[in-house]
Amino acid sequence: MALGSKLQKMENCGNSRHMVKKILLGLLVLLLAIQFIRQSKNLAPTPSPADIQIRHPIPPETRRILETACYDCHSNNTRYPWYAEVQPVGWWLADHIKEGKSHINFSEFDRLTPKRAVRKLEQCADEVTEGGMPLTSYRFVHTDARLTEAQRKTLADWFDAVRTTITFAETN
Ligand code: HEC
Repeated sequence: MALGSKLQKMENCGNSRHMVKKILLGLLVLLLAIQFIRQSKNLAPTPSPADIQIRHPIPPETRRILETACYDCHSNNTRYPWYAEVQPVGWWLADHIKEGKSHINFSEFDRLTPKRAVRKLEQCADEVTEGGMPLTSYRFVHTDARLTEAQRKTLADWFDAVRTTITFAETN
């Protein structure tokens, strides 16, 4: 091989290494920059008077299951993990919470019409029984939200019981 083309090759190699360094540095700068873009937190300062638990009595164990497995995404108060401070993870969590609350918000449950409340409770019991909720990614990190068969049944039975009281009040 001629010396010229050998030198050319070395130079190309140096160029692409230079390029990779530039890209990595660019990504690092981007990652640092996005840390300053924050979502507002889902932390209501006072308890909500419309929370589902106020008008519908809940046994302590059921309450514990409901609050540990569902309230982070379906209430006005999220218990934030430390990594919520790291973007883009924080954005991702905020998105789940916004989306979750738009489907059902237990802190505002009493504001639903009886018809909607009944429908939502049916969905809740279904999700819990079929294992659709809590979300898989959530169960992955929150070991206490991996519900046992018995806990699923306890929670689903409570949703059904609440639904029955609403249906009963409606038709009487
Ligand atoms: C990590 C956040 C998160 C947790 C925890 C969570 N959910 Fe959800 N939930 C969501 C999101 C996001 C949606 C909307 C998208 C979807 O259906 O996957 C949703 C949707 C729902 C729906 C509507 C489903 C439908 O048919 O439209 C119900 C009902 C529900 N969740 C109940 C629950 C119950 C009950 C629990 C606790 C056992 C729970 N969720 C825990 C995030 C969560």
